[in-house]
Amino acid sequence: MWVDLRSDTLTRPTAAMRRAMAEAEVGDDVFGEDPTVNRLEARVAERLGKEFALFVPSGTMANQVAFRLLSTPGDEVLLHEDAHPFHYEAGGAAVISGVTLRLLPGERGRMGLDTVRAAMRAPNVHHAPAALLSVENTANRGGGTVLPAAYCAELCAVAHEAGLHTHLDGARLWNAHVQSGASLHELAAGFDVVNVCMSKGLGAPVGSLLAGPRALAERARRVRKMLGGGMRQVGVLAAAAEHALDHHVARLADDHARARQLWEALQAAGYAVEAAPDTNIVYVRVPEAPAFSQRLAARGIGAIALAHDRIRFVTHLDVDDAGIATTIGVLRELAG
Ligand SMILES: Cc1ncc(COP(=O)(O)O)c(C=O)c1O
Repeated sequence: MWVDLRSDTLTRPTAAMRRAMAEAEVGDDVFGEDPTVNRLEARVAERLGKEFALFVPSGTMANQVAFRLLSTPGDEVLLHEDAHPFHYEAGGAAVISGVTLRLLPGERGRMGLDTVRAAMRAPNVHHAPAALLSVENTANRGGGTVLPAAYCAELCAVAHEAGLHTHLDGARLWNAHVQSGASLHELAAGFDVVNVCMSKGLGAPVGSLLAGPRALAERARRVRKMLGGGMRQVGVLAAAAEHALDHHVARLADDHARARQLWEALQAAGYAVEAAPDTNIVYVRVPEAPAFSQRLAARGIGAIALAHDRIRFVTHLDVDDAGIATTIGVLRELAG
């Protein structure tokens, strides 16, 4: 048995999702003529309370399009020091938008309001002007932490008062929604643009959406085309995303419960667990994490060493109760 807890991007489409893909009505989406894409975009925009949403191949592209739309070369983007665009987007912000990234500290992916305020410098010829605040919810490297809607609204107010735009990297906003009970609309409310991913916990093979105000829609389509993200009969993928929207949102609560179960068992076994997970991501401190992850792999458990002393387990659609029980058994043995 192989229990793959390395990432929630590892899910494979279910049989029902594959059927929905096979039956999708399609057209050329670069011409704006794919009815399944158009329906998905309208539904996601509506749920997020935004005027448009654009289907793009990946969360990385959604973030990069957002940066490009809301900054000018030479600007500065403020974001948490653990944020995805800094760690995992291949330096794209520098190349695609010509911006510098200003990294802000904060516990578990959460920047303090005062930290953000202090980062907003008065205009001065020496500084790169700050153009954009980017916020991640849930915060992946922060431990899958949920940032409450009220805190996000305050962050956005601080940014907007200082004349900055705001972007929400909501790759796992679905998890934040299910865990907190806040609607997607509430979680997205203060942000100018929002990225949500269908290919993480929701289990679609591909796809994210960037949502925002109507005034940005045409430019967003053009930037997507420039980056090579204009796809043709892509309704086959939008159908998978729609299926995920209809069938895989509420069940994220199961992933959260399994992550909590794993965390409790690890703690009981004496591991140096980080704070209890809000959602589907569990971090543990272990010495020589890469070697430890290899020992786990040899026992049929996939987990990623994200630092020399930090290992990550992520629950998702393809990990059931039996998988968690197996994982706990192996971890108890390895604890000594
Ligand atoms: C918080 C966050 N943002 C963005 C992305 C990028 O998504 P993709 O892998 O689809 O490019 C990820 C990927 O895991 C992520 O965790």
